[in-house]
Amino acid sequence: MYILGIETSCDETAASVVKDGRRILSNSIASSLSLHKRYWGVVPEIAFRMQLETITQIANSAIKEARIDLKDVGLISVTNGPGLLGSLLVGISFAKSASLGLGIPLLGINHLYSHIYASFLENSHVSLPFVSLVVSGGHTSLFYLKDFDKIQLLGSTQDDACGEAFDKVAKILGLGYPGGPLIERLSKNGNPRKIRLGCSKTENPLDFSFSGIKTAVLYYVRKMTQNSKLPAYPAGRQTPCLSGRQANSKLIRDIAASFQETVIDTLIKKSVLACKLKNTKRLVVGGGVAANSRLREKFYEIAREKGLTIYFPSKKLCTDNAAMVAGLGYQLFKKGYISGLDLNADLN
Ligand code: KG4
Ligand code: ZN
Repeated sequence: MYILGIETSCDETAASVVKDGRRILSNSIASSLSLHKRYWGVVPEIAFRMQLETITQIANSAIKEARIDLKDVGLISVTNGPGLLGSLLVGISFAKSASLGLGIPLLGINHLYSHIYASFLENSHVSLPFVSLVVSGGHTSLFYLKDFDKIQLLGSTQDDACGEAFDKVAKILGLGYPGGPLIERLSKNGNPRKIRLGCSKTENPLDFSFSGIKTAVLYYVRKMTQNSKLPAYPAGRQTPCLSGRQANSKLIRDIAASFQETVIDTLIKKSVLACKLKNTKRLVVGGGVAANSRLREKFYEIAREKGLTIYFPSKKLCTDNAAMVAGLGYQLFKKGYISGLDLNADLN
């Protein structure tokens, strides 16, 4: 069975054809990222205007690349939340009209659950039940999955999402947007033990909090600037911002590495605890931050130490894509799930 997946929850316009929930035949993505960079974050209006312009073309290119015909599609699977309202509505409206016009069944998919499914696209050995950590720009959550429709939320962030914290710290350091890949790159030549940072404690040990560490970095940068250890920020900026040349300083690399290491250690500690509490040895990680090489390396290390089996999608499937939406759609459709034309965006 061929499934057409559509994903427009944030700045990407993505479409993919997946066969039988596993085999990716095409994975087309257009991103408006370059238009958001100057604003240091995604501007919803810019994102959904571009999605409106590109959705048809991207869906067509996914069908063409898969070398199938639209009439061969057995299911249209579309992200219906959480995400940006205008962006979600572009994908949902397109999927609904294609479903009605072509008589193809329709299914709305939760974005976070599709990030979990990304590991299943490339690995046929993952078996249920397992604990899953989703670390993205908008969410940081731990789940326990007995099945694709039996998902228990164990904990989530109480303030900033993990990717959001990477983006904000990169802004404080004047690196650019999105911050995750930039912090990862700088950290390679930084000392992760140079600055003592910590993530705030949470009442539920499986919840997360990242706004404290972000503020700690901000205060540290301010102090270093006052002590002339870092250059002053350009006038007129609300956030301290260093130029590219200054960002290459040793101190900036050490701050980036210390921040990254502390965040990764927290993610590991809580994921291992969740596995222990749920009595499972399987851990599936997904979402944009899971593309981070240091994070992957450290999770594999702890997995060896604790006897856990850990699954990551390839880096390309960590960030937003429609293959994971098509794949999860297939699994749920097989269980009898289907959406009507009243499918709407679900922001929760
Ligand atoms: O999953 P995703 O593509 O979109 C959302 O659903 O939010 O995640 C985007 C987030 C951004 O915050 C970005 O900075 C972060 O993932 N990210 C990374 C890396 N690549 C992307 N964070 C750390 N290291 C990376 N290599
Ligand atoms: Zn995502």
